[in-house]
Amino acid sequence: MDETTPRALVAYESLFGSTRQVAEVIAAGMSQSVPTDCRDVRRLSPYELRGFSLLVIGAPTHARSLPTPASRAEGAKWLENRMYGRTLEGRALTPGMREWLGATALTGLRLTTFTTRTDLPRLLSGSALPAMARLARRAGAWVDGRGFEAVVDEKGQLVAGELDRAREWGLLLGRSLRRPVRA
Ligand SMILES: Cc1cc2nc3c(=O)[nH]c(=O)nc-3n(C[C@H](O)[C@H](O)[C@H](O)COP(=O)(O)O)c2cc1C
Repeated sequence: MDETTPRALVAYESLFGSTRQVAEVIAAGMSQSVPTDCRDVRRLSPYELRGFSLLVIGAPTHARSLPTPASRAEGAKWLENRMYGRTLEGRALTPGMREWLGATALTGLRLTTFTTRTDLPRLLSGSALPAMARLARRAGAWVDGRGFEAVVDEKGQLVAGELDRAREWGLLLGRSLRRPVRA
């Protein structure tokens, strides 16, 4: 791989694992065309961002926006009752995407977004996409496209077919990064 080969990075926050699963299949789809890493945003330091042609960031929708310390703590409480059978992701209660975007310079980086949200009309569910795009622009990124949303049921499990849709979205994103073939 030479220095001009496009590379992509998928970075995510996830409380119960669904957003991580979506991130992993988006990265798998993109990898068909370009080398793509997939990382928990909490394990990503700013110097590692150099050299990526596209950054894809994702987080769950909480209270119609990005998770906050209070919403993460609230989510942990849900595990005790209606989300039985689920477990918390490692580091789930530590600062995540919102805080990372507020503290990281993304100057000139091309970026796109994804979220997971409840399977309700968007007017009711809200979405973390606008907040993510706004914070990314404030950090200097060039935000591309409208982003991708996958939906979960009332226990936070991905609805059937959502991982396939996410992989397809990743495939198309990856293709958009491939250099045109010279005649
Ligand atoms: C505290 C809290 C608030 C939530 N608020 C919303 C919401 O406003 N709209 C929505 O569609 N889903 C909401 N959800 C559902 C989450 O979007 C869902 O749990 C998430 O997509 C699962 O992703 P994860 O497994 O990566 O954490 C909320 C979940 C929690 C824990």
